[in-house]
Parts: sequence; structure tokens; C-alpha cells
Amino acid sequence: MKFNDLAQQALQRADELATCTETPGILKRTFLSDPMKKTHELVRSWMQNAGMQVRVDALGNIVGRLQGKGPKAFLTGSHLDTVPDAGKYDGMLGVLIGIAAAEAIGTQNLNFHFDTIGFSDEEGVRYKMPYLGSLAISGLFKEEFLSRVDDKGITMADAIKNFGLNPADYKSAAYNFAEVKGFAEVHIEQGPVLEAQKLALGAVTGLVGQSRIKLYFRGLAGHAGTTPMPGRLDAFAALSELAVFVEKYGLSIPHLVATIGMAQVRPGGANVIPGEVYFSLDIRHGDQPVLDQATEVILAEAEHIAKRRGIKMAIETKESQAVVKCDEHLVNKMAQAMEKHGHQHFHLASGAGHDTAILSKVTPTAMLFIRSPGGISHNPIETVNVEDVAAAIEVFVSFLRSV
Ligand code: HGY
Ligand code: MN
Ligand code: MN
Repeated sequence: MKFNDLAQQALQRADELATCTETPGILKRTFLSDPMKKTHELVRSWMQNAGMQVRVDALGNIVGRLQGKGPKAFLTGSHLDTVPDAGKYDGMLGVLIGIAAAEAIGTQNLNFHFDTIGFSDEEGVRYKMPYLGSLAISGLFKEEFLSRVDDKGITMADAIKNFGLNPADYKSAAYNFAEVKGFAEVHIEQGPVLEAQKLALGAVTGLVGQSRIKLYFRGLAGHAGTTPMPGRLDAFAALSELAVFVEKYGLSIPHLVATIGMAQVRPGGANVIPGEVYFSLDIRHGDQPVLDQATEVILAEAEHIAKRRGIKMAIETKESQAVVKCDEHLVNKMAQAMEKHGHQHFHLASGAGHDTAILSKVTPTAMLFIRSPGGISHNPIETVNVEDVAAAIEVFVSFLRSV
């Protein structure tokens, strides 16, 4: 099949995967939710069609192996879960391009096995913890994660059992990285850089670090009509003050991004003063000391606002993901493959997190970015150009043949 046909096929498959959703009308597919079963059926059939052997591990990662001369393996893949009201390509396209590359290469044509992994969870929506699939693949998953509970009170262990898998086997999901040559992920850029440069592809040099925090402001609910304004303990007013600070502070530090993406106002009645808000902080920067300082400053301001208003602040979870550097040798191989097919070998850092961040802890990694028209992602209007996808498959195949 020609690269353009493989690209068309990949986009048709992305359309099919987009029908596997928890919520009709929008695309939402979280860790081992029901629609992930149909997703696995489709991905399994496409992987087998490409001559791959398919298995599903104890954390619900689906793995397709294209037999090569072995015994080592080179890995690719991305995530099959989505954010709520997602686009069709964030994650899924990386899995579909892995399958397309396998189809283009065929069995026994590489000096290593070529594995494509559909990770079960990267966005962290269901259990408020990202990278569950790649943590398991990397041998970094911890038993204590299994007792985390989702919004319906279902533990992660039960979610795994309900999917027909055995949570006690989580260790068996890990690769023996002595037998792994490296990991390379193909992903949409999800930002405006490649489009601004008028480029289809980019070689990723590293990923920004992240602080992901969930926290509460707790004031006092009250009657909206009978409670005078002075002296209210309005949790949402406190959050609004913090939101203005976060935006102003984010604008003051070059390349810093800081977002309050989730906020739940409780009890949520129109005639009730908000007694509590449960909200998120997502802070990112490519330079670790800047990120650490920004996290400290924003949390200190949250404390300060709470104190001044006489309300309480409580941190529920605080996850941090260190700044990631990809493997220079693999990044150069990716750049050479780009040049071989007439693309400028443009390098860029990733503002988004990816499974590559976890795999980077245990094996050499690289990423290939595909232009995001409009620079939009985590939004149903997320899109790609078919010719950019064809270029990505062609470059990725050459990259694999060169590692
Ligand atoms: O949030 C992120 O950066 C990624 O999409 N999980
Ligand atoms: Mn995402
Ligand atoms: Mn993604």
C-alpha cells in the first residue's frame, strides 16, 4: 500500500475509534471503560491484518508485535484513552501509524521485533492519575495505585477485573528493557508551532515538566438572599481571585503555562453561596527550577487568599512530572529520516505530556510530531492533514529501518 493510502486508512480508522465513546455526542473514553472493549476489538483486527501477533496485558495495554529477527524489540505506541469531549487523533493516531508502519514493513524485515502499544490510560481522567498504561509497561506501576477509587467508587483493581484482566498480574505488563532498543511515539503536536513554521513534521527534543495538583477551597455555604456580602466565606469567589492571579503570573514568566482546567462548585445551587470548590492546577515549563518556583508561588498565593478570606485550603493530590530529554542518537535518526524525505529537520520541545515521558525513564526515546492545523487539541475540532499523516508514516518507516 502507498503511504497516502495507509494515511487514508489510518484516518478512516480514527473515525471508527471515535464512535467508541462513553457519552453519545462527544468522544470520551477513559481507563478500561466499556467502549475500550470495542476499541480493542477494532485495534486487534487491524494489528492482525498487518501481520502482528496481539496480546493485552494486565493493565489493559494492547500490544501488537511484528516479528523481526529479534531477540530485541523496538517499541512505538500512544494512548487509546481520551479527555472528555476529545478530538479523534490525540493518542489514537500514534497507534494507527504504528500499525500502518508494520503494514508497510512486513514481518521478518527488521533486525528486531517491532511492537506497537495502545496504552490503556495516559490522560488520567478516571483515576486522576496519568500514564497508568506506560507506568505498567515501564515496570514503574505500584500496587498502591490499584486501590484508587473513581467517581463511582470503583477501585482500579475492580475496573481491571471488570475488563476481564487480573490486577494481581500488573508486574507482568513490564518489558525486560535489556531486550528493548528504544521507544518512539508519533503524535499530533497539539499546538501552533509547526503550522506557524509551515512544516508538516517536527523532531521532538524533550517534554516540559508538569505539576498537576487537585485541591479544595472550603468556606461556608449559605443563603444567597439573606446573607449580607460582607463576611461571606464564598469558596468560588476565592477561586476566582486565584484564577486571575494564575493568569497574570503565567503571562509574566516566558514559556510558563498555568491552567485551572477543572472546577466543581459545591453544593452548586444557584441560590446557595458556594461552600466548597474542588479544582485543578496544571503548571508546566521546560526548565525544572522555573517550574518548581512557579508551583511554589501559585500554591503560596492560594494559601494567602484562603487565609485572608478566612477559608480553608486542602491539597488532595500533587503529581509532578520532571522535564524530559529525549535520546540524542534517536532524535538525530528521526531528523535524518525527515531530511531523507525532503523535510526540514525542525526540532521542538513538547508542551504536552506523553507516554514518552514515562518510557524515557527506562529506555532511549524519540518523538515525531505531526502538524496540528489551527493548533487546537483536547477539542473535537482537532484535525490533521492526510498528506502530513502520509509523510509521518513514510518518515517513521525510514526511521525504523535506520535504528
Ligand atoms: O495533558 C497533557 O499534556 C496530555 O495531553 N496528557
Ligand atoms: Mn491529551
Ligand atoms: Mn496525547
